[in-house]
Amino acid sequence: EDSKNVVLEEDPSLPPAMKTKIRGCTSLRMKRVRISGWVHRLRRQKGPTFIVLRDGTGFLQCVLSDRLSQTYDALTLATEAAIQITGLVQEVPEGKSAPGGHELIADWWGVLGAAPSGDDAFSNRLNAESEGNVLADNRHLALRGEVAASVLHVRAGVLSAFRKVFEAHNLTEVTPPCMVQTQVEGGATLFKFDYYGQPAFLTQSSQLYLETCLPSLGDVYSIQESFRAENSHTRRHLSEYTHLEAELAFITFDELMTHIEEVICEAVSMVLAVPRLAAMLKQLHPEFQPPKRPFLRMSYKNAIKYLNEHGIQRKDDETGRFVDHTVGDDIAEAAERQMTDELGVPIFLYGFPKEIKAFYMKKIPGDEAFTESCDLLMPNVGEIVGGSMRIADMDELLAGYKREGIDPAPYYWFTDQRKYGTCEHGGYGLGVERFLAWLTNRYTVRECSLYPRWPGRATP
Ligand code: 4AD
Repeated sequence: EDSKNVVLEEDPSLPPAMKTKIRGCTSLRMKRVRISGWVHRLRRQKGPTFIVLRDGTGFLQCVLSDRLSQTYDALTLATEAAIQITGLVQEVPEGKSAPGGHELIADWWGVLGAAPSGDDAFSNRLNAESEGNVLADNRHLALRGEVAASVLHVRAGVLSAFRKVFEAHNLTEVTPPCMVQTQVEGGATLFKFDYYGQPAFLTQSSQLYLETCLPSLGDVYSIQESFRAENSHTRRHLSEYTHLEAELAFITFDELMTHIEEVICEAVSMVLAVPRLAAMLKQLHPEFQPPKRPFLRMSYKNAIKYLNEHGIQRKDDETGRFVDHTVGDDIAEAAERQMTDELGVPIFLYGFPKEIKAFYMKKIPGDEAFTESCDLLMPNVGEIVGGSMRIADMDELLAGYKREGIDPAPYYWFTDQRKYGTCEHGGYGLGVERFLAWLTNRYTVRECSLYPRWPGRATP
């Protein structure tokens, strides 16, 4: 009870403490520093208290002496409390290890924001047995875990790397709207809403807008949310996902695939060149090997052959029986994944039949039932990129609208591109969460989104 009254005072005779983040400690060894953060781990002994402090830039072991451990605040301290500590950063003694190779020997500390212990303790909100709903309802707390935070750090590194790679390839970033009145990838997955009395949708893809930028800015890209009212509870579908899309003018289909490959490989090596991110990736995905170029390119027709030669069948919608694939079939997620996992390397699947693809895709010259389209498939995830060459010819585009039963009127601005200086062009969209699921070896894309949305889930 005595401890209740003890209020620690900073010793004014000590040299002033330098305010820093944990990451800055390496260059401040043997200096007096002031650090604020959250109690990640806590070990109380008879004498000193050991704290692992977390501030988003790293982890730091802190030692509170006997004297500093005897206050009411110290005795009631719980994990996830926000605290401030001053002291000396010292290299850990030979044979001991700690994050960064050093520890903070405190001369003073104080609580900034307490956290409960007992029933309401952080560890009781989320424990090893927590499943589905509990984890999703408590995503805001789960984010504080090392794995979740590492995935998000890698995510930030990936986005920054792609931006740098695009800049090096002379692509300019644009920010297209999320509220739109045209579809891109089919009416079935549109989220509809009332826009001042008019029907509007949440965007499925920024592609059409990117196409309009070509004559203005040249090659462009965007990193924008896309929305899909997918009624599928799979491990690779979200209702809202981050869509990295690019569009390039005056290219061939072959150049498009080479570009996708380059951008992905360059972004991966840029992430691996950041020591902190490389260390996180090593933890998350110890076996990760950067993909080798060139990627395997397999035509849709050869994929159908592969599936049949390897006994990978599809379920017939009408009879429910498993049957061989025939040319014209959409390759379902399960079959695609099985093939990708068997081959174990990135695969460009290209040349899909026009019936199973979007209205805007260019046909293969001389083989017009098929399109200059490609999906990039990655082991363990499946499709992470969808791209194609676009129809450059006006009449062909009008026929495309017709085939898909789309009213061309709201697309006047898209059609205009074919009227004023049309050009051969193509582009692609990469699902950032799927890319991350592949890179960080996560079971589901839900782990790669800050606050994932799927059917029935829009909270927190
Ligand atoms: O293949 P998709 O539908 O292609 C397009 O939207 C094109 N208009 C893009 C373009 O050419 N600019 O989607 C592209 C990628 C997919 O390969 C996948 O990685 C991701 O977007 N994706 C999803 N990711 C998570 N949840 C979903 N429901 C997704 N739907 C597509």
